[in-house]
Amino acid sequence: MTTLNERIGRLGVVPVVVIRDPSRAAPLARALAEGGLPCAEITFRTSGAAEALRRIAAEVPDVLLGAGTVLTPGQAAAARKAGARFVVSPGFDARVVDYCQAHELAVYPGVCTPTEIQNALEAGLDVLKFFPAGPLGGASFLKAISAPFPGLQFIPTGGVKREHLPGYLRLDRVLACGGSWLAPAAWIDEGAFGRIRDEAARTVAVVRGGSP
Ligand code: 3PG
Repeated sequence: MTTLNERIGRLGVVPVVVIRDPSRAAPLARALAEGGLPCAEITFRTSGAAEALRRIAAEVPDVLLGAGTVLTPGQAAAARKAGARFVVSPGFDARVVDYCQAHELAVYPGVCTPTEIQNALEAGLDVLKFFPAGPLGGASFLKAISAPFPGLQFIPTGGVKREHLPGYLRLDRVLACGGSWLAPAAWIDEGAFGRIRDEAARTVAVVRGGSP
């Protein structure tokens, strides 16, 4: 059976999404899937996040669904109840990690220092978000910081755009890249789902080795 990490690794990209109006959630998820990226990380930055997750889980069930910006165990519980299969946090919070592990929910906490990586290793994790990837120095920083931790893989996120994908994805320690460039909140608000589908398709072409 294909594991969740394998599915994310095959996609190569985790679209990060801010949804202000949950009625946009299912069309957004469909647009990503039509473009070849059936995955969405719905961030808990808006009050409609749990409802958006519920709608995608119910209406577009083939999309690999995650919750982002999860800061508390309560948000992780809400995400799980709403149908999220994975949880992403900007930083490492042992309470969130404990909750997810106790409920067999994949969790990708954010790290950007060796100490944080060691905390995550101690918690038994093997895939971490590297955040904020761009401002920290991108692929060269990630290559250096990951060197002492051979068992770990990373999802660089934060300041990542389509043109940065080849530099990250050529590192064998990168499972996938995360980012909001595929579905900016403004496009979702405008209902520009064709644009989101087209950006997803362009992104898939780059993941497969095409020019950005
Ligand atoms: C996140 O929520 O993980 C990141 O803030 C997404 O970063 P981006 O908007 O720079 O892609």
